[in-house]
Amino acid sequence: MPDSAFAYQNPTLPVEARVADLLSRMTRQEKIAQCAQLFVILSNRPQIEALIRKQGLGSRILASTHLAGSVREIATEVEDINALQRVAVEETRLGIPLIHGRDVIHGHRTVFPIPLAMAAAWEPGLVEQAYTIAAREAASAGVNWAFAPMLDIARDPRWGRIIEGFGEDPYLASRNTVAAVKGFQGEDLSSPDRILACAKHYIGYGSAEGGRDYNTGEISDHTLRNIYLPPFKAAVEAGLGSVMSAFLDFNGEPASGSHYLLTELLKGELGFSGFIVSDWDSVVELINHRVAEDERAAAQIAFNAGVDMEMVSDSYLQHLDQLLENGEVSEERLEDAVRRILTAKFRLGLFERPYTDPALGEKVQFTPEHQALARRIAGMGMVLLQNKNSLLPLSRDLKHIAVIGPLARQRSALLGAWVLDGLISETQTLLEAIQQACPQAEVPEISDAMNDEMLMAVADSDVVILAVGESNARSGEYNCVASLDLPAGQEALIEAVANLGKPLVLVVLAGRPVNLTRAVRLADAILYAWHPGSLGAKAIADILFGAVYPSGKLPVTFPRGEGQIPLYYNHKSTGRPHMNRTLDLPVEPLYPFGFGLSYTTFSYRDIKVDRSSIKLAESVTVSALVTNTGRHAGEEVVQCYLQDCVASLTRPVRELKGFARVALQPGKSQRVSFTLGPAELSFYDRSGKLVVEPGKFKVWIGGDSQATLEGQFSVTP
Ligand code: BGC
Repeated sequence: MPDSAFAYQNPTLPVEARVADLLSRMTRQEKIAQCAQLFVILSNRPQIEALIRKQGLGSRILASTHLAGSVREIATEVEDINALQRVAVEETRLGIPLIHGRDVIHGHRTVFPIPLAMAAAWEPGLVEQAYTIAAREAASAGVNWAFAPMLDIARDPRWGRIIEGFGEDPYLASRNTVAAVKGFQGEDLSSPDRILACAKHYIGYGSAEGGRDYNTGEISDHTLRNIYLPPFKAAVEAGLGSVMSAFLDFNGEPASGSHYLLTELLKGELGFSGFIVSDWDSVVELINHRVAEDERAAAQIAFNAGVDMEMVSDSYLQHLDQLLENGEVSEERLEDAVRRILTAKFRLGLFERPYTDPALGEKVQFTPEHQALARRIAGMGMVLLQNKNSLLPLSRDLKHIAVIGPLARQRSALLGAWVLDGLISETQTLLEAIQQACPQAEVPEISDAMNDEMLMAVADSDVVILAVGESNARSGEYNCVASLDLPAGQEALIEAVANLGKPLVLVVLAGRPVNLTRAVRLADAILYAWHPGSLGAKAIADILFGAVYPSGKLPVTFPRGEGQIPLYYNHKSTGRPHMNRTLDLPVEPLYPFGFGLSYTTFSYRDIKVDRSSIKLAESVTVSALVTNTGRHAGEEVVQCYLQDCVASLTRPVRELKGFARVALQPGKSQRVSFTLGPAELSFYDRSGKLVVEPGKFKVWIGGDSQATLEGQFSVTP
């Protein structure tokens, strides 16, 4: 039991003073232990308790397998968390609490849509609320630290982890990242319903070759800085508390062993003051990358590179002492790592409030308020891709509705991957939600298989709702695909149903863009619902029957097939832009980034640029008139794209630089403005400096990345 007279126990002192006092009392062994994170299960618990009593422990990961997001994870028990915490706080010399970390990727017990779907809502304010709720629920379960948000830009939908991030665009990802960090951490990290955020996976993880998880990434420094870095930079500027280093070998160095990436770029240039945790075993995996001979060398490389805490493997615990003894790791580096970790613990208020009330969870989890937000954001993120003859919204007076397909009665496919604490039993199926939305209609219960019963139901129906797509097990970590086609048999099923000639609505559940080239020809309407979370089925019904009008927009380009990959809207100009083709497919995507229909239509006109010329540090305001030209009310995500026409380095053909949601009644117009200043006009030049270069800029405002309403202005020195 620590002496309560120690200065670091005094909550009225500033955090820096408390950290300095505590550090001055710690032995080397105690410091090293703070740099370790272990997982604790029944069988290793006695050893871990002994370790804590002897030298303490930095952190416990609340996961029991290295594929926590892809296999069913064990639930956390507050009593169990408190019991281990008691050993750290009450049975050690200094009483330093553990920090408990868990994957809280898209909600805790209330499961929100997958992050890619939240990005499709283009509404960072709601994303912040979703992460606020995730923090509140996770904190009530004893979690102090979430391994999220995941900020990896993904340009390859074969990669299963595209589901976890905010899509292909650095600007959209940055806006959502800031929202997620604020949602988790709030204004005051020490408040009991806030938890520490962890931006991951630093960096370039989404560039894995072939979209195969853990694979090598090789991109230029230019692309690293201009495409992959911005969300991390935004997170750091938002006060992010921790970063996770990535698994991959990136530009010739494993990211978890790169002094350049971790210490020079992140801690140095970006000024990141939080701590860096490795990914699961990524320190000792330096041996597999063949930059370290053994665990001792791995510990030395990773620690010196800047990884402050090692996740799961214990090479720091085993070897740091010897490495320090031999001068291969410096005492200053150890002090720096421990200072960063302890700062997070003090900021979180763990010294004052190390335990969680076991009764809290039931009071704050899955409340009606949380469910309402989950339903709202799920609906906002769904993207209407097609609506021939305005089939949708459906009338609630329909007499016979066939709700069929392999995912019509699936619960886990609604939740998606990376669900550790959401309950399947609290998730309604699509069939149930539609029965509830249309109680007077006949909606027969039929099996999921493609069988005569299903075709008979189709023949007897006024409309068919066919739920296809991916199960939760087809994306997430380690779940990559070589083909973007719908899983086996689904296209044949769509065709068989379409042959019966009934109005056909496809509802697609998926964690990535799947190839819909054939489906587009067969279906009348297509609603891309992603993996929409606990309230996802209700949100789908809301849209199908018009209680909510669709307004989501794609956060990622939809290719016509994997042969087109990589395909992203913010590509460069070639020397022969007029000679851009493939012989077997159009080069255009099936659906461009930013695309999404509504039940009404919008037109754009009268673009205005308030100043035709500005100086380097100044801003320009660009606006356009948006009109609801259809017969329904609707919401439109108005998007603003920019091109730096001539620059010292090649720049993308266009880049998203602003967006705004507007709600318009039929016939009504609104002028929507965007301010473009140094933050939007700058890019990283050859020397790695953020610069605005004088010259001409083009700007477009419209409803997707192919917007044609164009304005221009110039920047002068
Ligand atoms: C994943 C991380 C995750 C960690 C802990 C790793 O396999 O890459 O994203 O946070 O496991 O579950």
